[in-house]
Amino acid sequence: MRTASIVAITVTALLLAIVVICYSLLKSGDLSARKKPGTFERAVANYALNLSIPGAAKKAKNPVKATPDALASGTKYYSENCAVCHGNDGAGRTNPAKGLSPDVPDLRATPVQKLTDGEIFYLIRNGIRFTGMPGWDFQDQEIWKLVLVTRQLPKQSSPNSPNKPAKPE
Ligand code: HEC
Repeated sequence: MRTASIVAITVTALLLAIVVICYSLLKSGDLSARKKPGTFERAVANYALNLSIPGAAKKAKNPVKATPDALASGTKYYSENCAVCHGNDGAGRTNPAKGLSPDVPDLRATPVQKLTDGEIFYLIRNGIRFTGMPGWDFQDQEIWKLVLVTRQLPKQSSPNSPNKPAKPE
């Protein structure tokens, strides 16, 4: 009985502490998009995001071949819908990107290019909650073409090169 009450008091105290910490963080303006997530928050979010993608979706293969037609059509979708945040070159150095938290990633960089085709498809289709990344209701074929375009971006300019958009933004 004594142990039970010690446990109950400890749990209540811990919960109270969490509430006080959350309250003071919110009061100090921590939900403003001006504040970028720290390394720990980023790591936890990336882990959770990876965990949230179903295994079958990760393994899905791109049924669309990278023909000039498919790339042209994908690039059109990309410039019309994605470039506003990600930039025509994929670098993510755009005006909306400056004001978004978490950051708009460089689509040419290794962390994105290491994702499987299926993961990229899933992230484009469903978007990423609590971030600026929307989900898209395009037909599957169009999303697979966007996956092809994402793979093409590092071939057009490298993540370390100065910002040289393929087309003026
Ligand atoms: C309104 C801004 C915005 C638009 C428009 C947008 N994105 Fe994003 N995108 C983001 C942000 C912000 C993230 C990072 C989310 C995060 O922190 O996990 C992101 C993440 C991604 C990722 C995952 C990268 C990773 O590291 O996990 C891919 C792939 C992607 N976007 C592709 C696209 C494509 C393709 C389009 C167009 C159909 C598009 N995005 C449109 C803001 C945008």
